[in-house]
Amino acid sequence: MSQPDRVIPEVTLREVVEADLPAFYQDQLDPEAAAMVGFESRDWDAFLAHWTKILADPATAVRTVVVDGQVAGNVLSFEWSGEREVGYWIGKRFWGRGVATLALAEFLRQYPQRPLFATVAAHNAGSIRVLRKCGFTDSASPPDAKDAKDVKDAKDDEVRLRLDG
Ligand SMILES: CC(C)(COP(=O)(O)OP(=O)(O)OC[C@H]1O[C@@H](n2cnc3c(N)ncnc32)[C@H](O)[C@@H]1OP(=O)(O)O)[C@@H](O)C(=O)NCCC(=O)NCCS
Repeated sequence: MSQPDRVIPEVTLREVVEADLPAFYQDQLDPEAAAMVGFESRDWDAFLAHWTKILADPATAVRTVVVDGQVAGNVLSFEWSGEREVGYWIGKRFWGRGVATLALAEFLRQYPQRPLFATVAAHNAGSIRVLRKCGFTDSASPPDAKDAKDVKDAKDDEVRLRLDG
């Protein structure tokens, strides 16, 4: 019997608006998602302070991920000790449909700065897979060895990946 075709969701990115924040807040409260990141969920006040800072920082690029017209998460890049990091968070009800991969790939098209780094909890297999599908490789073996001195070491429980070119 043939398998049904997998439906590819329509994933778009747009500017973050204040009305997106309650959805982002709920997503970061989810215990399974927080455990993937190795992160302690923020209460509303701490969450709002954090996002107010993100949205005001000209060095941070942040987009809302929209799937079939609904707010599905966010993807961002920010400066961290002189290097440009990428991060994303997809709401649980959108998991397992290729949303993170499509959203990150689109973000990488819109923001061509390289190299880009990602620091991920070593147990976060989903996030590591998303990054690899988008072309990230182990940062311990950068393609250009002369850059190696510039590469931060990940902690033992983290994996650090990079995207060049
Ligand atoms: C990790 C996360 C972004 C994945 O989102 P998603 O939309 O479900 O990912 P995709 O559907 O694009 O999956 C891409 C690949 O990862 C795999 N994958 C996704 N979640 C996985 C998991 N928990 N364990 C193992 N593999 C997983 C998928 O099977 C798929 O692989 P394939 O193409 O080989 O079949 C999402 O679960 C999330 O936002 N989690 C909480 C926050 C977080 O971890 N952010 C990243 C911080 S660095």
